[in-house]
Amino acid sequence: MQAKKYLITSALPYANGPIHFGHMVGAYLSADVYNRHRRLQGQESLFISGSDEHGVAIMLNAKKAGIPYQEYVDKWHKEHGEVFDKYGVKFDFFGQTSADYHAEETVKWFKVLHDKEYIGTQDSRQLYCNDCHNHLPDRFVEGTCYVCDYPDARGDECPNCGEFIEPAKLKNPVCKICSSQNIKEVSVTQYYLLLSKFHKEYREWFEAKKDSWRKTVWPFVDSLTKEGLHDRAITRDLDWGIDVPLPNTEGKKLYVWFDAPIGYVSNTKKYLEDSGSQEDYLKDWWQNEDVELSHFIGKDNIIFHTIIFPCMSMASGFAKAADKVPANQFLNLEGKQFSKSTGHYVDALDAVNEFGQDALRYYLLTILPETTDSSFSWDQFQAKVNNELANNIGNFLNRCLKFTQKNWSEGLPASCFAGFADSDEGKLISSELKEINEHLDQQNFRKGIEKVMALGNKANNYFSEQAPWALIKEDRDKAAIVLAQSSAYALCLGAAMAPFLPELSSKILNHFSGIITEDQVKRLYCGEVTVLDEVFANGHILSIPVDALVPKILDEVIASKKDVLKT
Ligand code: 2FM
Ligand code: ZN
Repeated sequence: MQAKKYLITSALPYANGPIHFGHMVGAYLSADVYNRHRRLQGQESLFISGSDEHGVAIMLNAKKAGIPYQEYVDKWHKEHGEVFDKYGVKFDFFGQTSADYHAEETVKWFKVLHDKEYIGTQDSRQLYCNDCHNHLPDRFVEGTCYVCDYPDARGDECPNCGEFIEPAKLKNPVCKICSSQNIKEVSVTQYYLLLSKFHKEYREWFEAKKDSWRKTVWPFVDSLTKEGLHDRAITRDLDWGIDVPLPNTEGKKLYVWFDAPIGYVSNTKKYLEDSGSQEDYLKDWWQNEDVELSHFIGKDNIIFHTIIFPCMSMASGFAKAADKVPANQFLNLEGKQFSKSTGHYVDALDAVNEFGQDALRYYLLTILPETTDSSFSWDQFQAKVNNELANNIGNFLNRCLKFTQKNWSEGLPASCFAGFADSDEGKLISSELKEINEHLDQQNFRKGIEKVMALGNKANNYFSEQAPWALIKEDRDKAAIVLAQSSAYALCLGAAMAPFLPELSSKILNHFSGIITEDQVKRLYCGEVTVLDEVFANGHILSIPVDALVPKILDEVIASKKDVLKT
């Protein structure tokens, strides 16, 4: 059954450092394209994200920076909001997990899961620093890995062998808060999410996803969950996070990964309230079977979005579980992992300030790691922007619009546009637009943008082959028809590009602003090329000046970027 509404979430980024291209392609750009696509199809959709503001990694960095936790996360929340804005990633709501409304929702989930006996206690061995008097969960402790002997294993994971670490087993533990080695082991009661009880229900839901989920996701999750589900500790002894809402739990907070995904739900609630909507966040969205729920994430977040959060949702009864989890693989930089500490790094905000939204969205969308890891390369970035976006699309638009404006300042008459929709060109464009829609319906974003570029190529070739600059000297009327067809191509391109390159798309559509309505753009986007008969019923005058739409990137600029990485 065709879903009637679309609920789209992007992983809540940690408010703990700058965003790089890896984050951008992991969970944000494709989600934004999908949201825009569904709206262009006239569907109702909600696009939700926000900052993930709890956890030990954030606490450590706030301590290092010498500022209060709240101030620290607020700073990153603000900067991330600006970065997404500059990339045209347009959430309906971008909230904060340190806010009261979020704690309220999380507490509700905890209590219901506890009442239903899906949360229980277990004693666990953990580490405690005798010098600074802190419990040392997760990254608050480092030591030698008991599996591979790597000396800098963290209390949650060994970066060398990938082992999920039990901190009490680490060799030579060191406190990351005060550097002390004076550490003791203590036995502490923690609350656990009793996933093992939910295995049967979980598998029934999960197995139905076999044919629709990505091949990089389903088999991986299948192998992890076939035999059983492990209970997970969901509390920590910390002074930052959401209080455990039970008596005699002073000093205990909910684990960041318990509250973070509930952020999707609390942010939906807050959005609807703030926007004065009459809709109920649960009944109309999170529990609504007519809603398609998609979680856009990077592959490191698969377990939480395909196992733990779906179990929390179904077991509590608060929400339906995900319909789609289009997890992306990783993006490298020039073949190696991004690393801020070694300088092998590009800051996403600096990049967009320098190269603009269209160039970066275009290149990043063409290298989305949908099926395998991919790599950002400065040379390829330049080549793709200059050869494909500037020389192909930009050049066509420039030539077509400028030539028309110069030679038909009085406008092209309606008669020149007649019959376009029924022409071979018109029929071809219609089927291409429909194919682009199908790719995006299936969340195949790379195929979608490739098709848009192919359409641009056709337009460019048509213009070159028809050579209106020569034709005008022999037959002005025929040249006018070529230009009318080219304008129609340009308009179709503007519509097709809208979810991918919204800024470039609106610059193109601006040239037709007086004659095409928003509703007609949507119909055209869906492949209804006959709408052009209505749009051009009175001909068309290009009245605003035509600027270069896609600037080229110079060699020396790219050379300097590569130099920075080498040093
Ligand atoms: O990996 C991350 O960046 C996490 N902050 C993602 C959280 S996603 C969701 F559950 F909130
Ligand atoms: Zn200490």
